[in-house]
Amino acid sequence: MSNNLLANKRGIIFGALDEQSIAWHVAEKCVSQGARIVLTNAPVALRMGKIQELSSRLNAPLIGADATSLEDLENLLSQSMEILGGKLDFILHSIGMSLNVRKGKTYTDLNYEFLQKTYDISAISFHKLMQSALKMDAMEEWGSILALTYIAAQRVFPDYNDMADAKALLESIGRSFGYHFGTQKKVRVNTISQSPTMTTAGSGVKGFSEFFGYADKMSPLGNAPAENCANYCVAMFSDLTRMVTMQNLYHDGGFSAMGMNPAILNLNQ
Ligand SMILES: NC(=O)c1ccc[n+]([C@@H]2O[C@H](COP(=O)([O-])OP(=O)(O)OC[C@H]3O[C@@H](n4cnc5c(N)ncnc54)[C@H](O)[C@@H]3O)[C@@H](O)[C@H]2O)c1
Repeated sequence: MSNNLLANKRGIIFGALDEQSIAWHVAEKCVSQGARIVLTNAPVALRMGKIQELSSRLNAPLIGADATSLEDLENLLSQSMEILGGKLDFILHSIGMSLNVRKGKTYTDLNYEFLQKTYDISAISFHKLMQSALKMDAMEEWGSILALTYIAAQRVFPDYNDMADAKALLESIGRSFGYHFGTQKKVRVNTISQSPTMTTAGSGVKGFSEFFGYADKMSPLGNAPAENCANYCVAMFSDLTRMVTMQNLYHDGGFSAMGMNPAILNLNQ
């Protein structure tokens, strides 16, 4: 159902890789709520072809950008403003990657070159994006910027590895930049801490499917699906949430507030 919550709004969505990607759902929901968007992903992801299909279905131009490259980000921002016909109302950062996770390096045996890449791709890219947008005056007043994160930034989930530290940095960047963007341009910056979700990035984590089941049982509402996360993003991009900024917002079916759930232990209530 569309309420046209994003009518006349322009935005950029990072990180739609395939139909499982959280960003894929966000792109679909934003367009169905009346927004016009540009899709972007790393050049290697563009070559895989699936995002092209989303781009043509949503009539959303596709611009390649490595989120760690300032040059690519500046090109993306200026081209998007040109194509969409004005400054941006919203941006979704939906990017995460760890070579340590991919190559099976454990947290006590990290490769530090990989670690730098984890931070650069998964966290510092958020700073680079916002610094470029601020310098280029690319955001409309009362615009909204979001990044997706995970509760491993606050609590220990051993197999989440160096991504936990990257998420802690990402959330801190959201808060710190939120101050500057809010004061200078009345733009809000938040992070959404999402339930485990079956995606390429998610299922790269060791033991993910067992953990997915654990989180589902622990959460009174169950794990939050990607489609619901997309609805939450739409709400955060809309004018209904103008005064919410510098927050880490849990979208997790209640997981973050639980200590113990009898369902986990198969106890009768
Ligand atoms: N899946 C989960 O369980 C879960 C839970 C909470 C938060 N998140 C977060 O949601 C976000 C999206 O992940 P997802 O689960 O949809 O998986 P996904 O694999 O579909 O998305 C990750 C995206 O990051 C992109 N990317 C990687 N390196 C890049 C670079 N250098 N430049 C630009 N883009 C790059 C990939 O191409 C991909 O599109 C990530 O930040 C992830 O950490 C995921």
